Amino acid sequence: MEKLVVRGGKRLCGEVTISGAKNAAVAIIPAALLVDGICIVENVPAIKDVAVICSILEELGAKIDFLDKYTIKIDCSNVNKYTAPYEKVRKMRASYYLLGALLGRVKKADVALPGGCNFGSRPIDQHLKGFKALGAKVSDDPEIEKSGIVYAATDGLVGTNVYLDVVSVGATINVMLAATLARGTTIIENVAKEPHIVDVANFLNAMGANIKGAGTDVIRIHGVDKLHGGTYSIIPDQIEAGTFMVAAAATGGDILVKNVIPKHMESVSAKLEETGATVKEFDDSIRVIGTGTIKPVNIKTLPYPGFPTDMQPQFVSLLAAADGTSIVTESVWESRFQYVDELMRMGADITVCNRTATIKGTGLCGTQVRATDLRGGAGMVIAGLMADGETTITDIQYIDRGYENMEEKFRNLGADINRVNDTRIDN
Ligand code: UD1
Repeated sequence: MEKLVVRGGKRLCGEVTISGAKNAAVAIIPAALLVDGICIVENVPAIKDVAVICSILEELGAKIDFLDKYTIKIDCSNVNKYTAPYEKVRKMRASYYLLGALLGRVKKADVALPGGCNFGSRPIDQHLKGFKALGAKVSDDPEIEKSGIVYAATDGLVGTNVYLDVVSVGATINVMLAATLARGTTIIENVAKEPHIVDVANFLNAMGANIKGAGTDVIRIHGVDKLHGGTYSIIPDQIEAGTFMVAAAATGGDILVKNVIPKHMESVSAKLEETGATVKEFDDSIRVIGTGTIKPVNIKTLPYPGFPTDMQPQFVSLLAAADGTSIVTESVWESRFQYVDELMRMGADITVCNRTATIKGTGLCGTQVRATDLRGGAGMVIAGLMADGETTITDIQYIDRGYENMEEKFRNLGADINRVNDTRIDN
């Protein structure tokens, strides 16, 4: 086990290059199960969740080679298994994509309920609703030894209309995966519009799929017989970019965040400007200049293009040191303020009532805190960068799931942050 030790108070300046998008990579890699041929996927982030999804695919029979640190070659021609390894599936949320991809490829899928960060109830009923509409059934075949939910589409999947009752990133992508090789046309309505949904559709289309409308409320998928191999480059990570943008504002710094799509950052850029930071957009980079004082702002998380829930903890850390009171409302997840207790150990003055946090700006002091989840952990790093003295962050395995070399990127900007062994006895 390792921990991060941050000595706060440094003004962060310089350039940082953003890695490929985690939430696109963890969908595109299983999407390769649908392809007959070799996929070369570029700009893959070097993070734990990618390692886990790659090893699940390998256990299913795929051949995966790293051509370099960020480029993988995936050959799924020999995949005919449909049972995903339980222990690995439980490690990450995105393992739910194995359901859609395996149903599309093998017409059967045996996948445990996914793991991932705990934000309260995280149902997948809308994914299952979509699979059922396409003709998959919960299998009652006694020959099948079940390790999770088993869906089978004995006669193949057939295109249909699916209306999602809630706007869900995962359900949108999963139903799209299942429908790609289905017979006929599938229309999915009330879909999510996050950039990584468009990226997965672009990947599938580059391999021969016929998907239209990704990025709007309605996606139309004309099923094709097969997908061919090809090369695809993943978009930059919107949340990693946002985390470094917040760090610039939090430390009164000046950071050029490179390899971003500024359009994807609009809600984050707008909120940072409201806090008093200057945000300058270029073709594929954004410069954020902090002033050293932070104005309070109110935020409500929403599906894209609204303010992303995955940026909520980083902003709450920033606002914990603002000149006044901010109100942050979480409308996507029922329980995403667990990290607030940790922030309060650093002196933050925050009251959480149901899905709303009232944050009275104050000074932060370094102490020992833990990462309660991936983005909560990023919030702790932001708080540590602002705090007086030394902050020790434990349980950083959550951070490693989704940030590539986070401490090295921060160190290159002038932060005093180090990864050290965590010698706590209870480890
Ligand atoms: C994805 C992201 C996660 C992000 C979230 C919202 C990945 C791997 N994870 O998670 O980082 O926080 O989008 O932007 O991409 N819901 C249902 N039934 C369902 C599915 C979802 O009720 O079948 C609800 C959820 O409880 C939640 C809301 O819909 O309240 C949004 O969830 P969803 O967009 O599906 O999130 P994930 O795909 O799990």
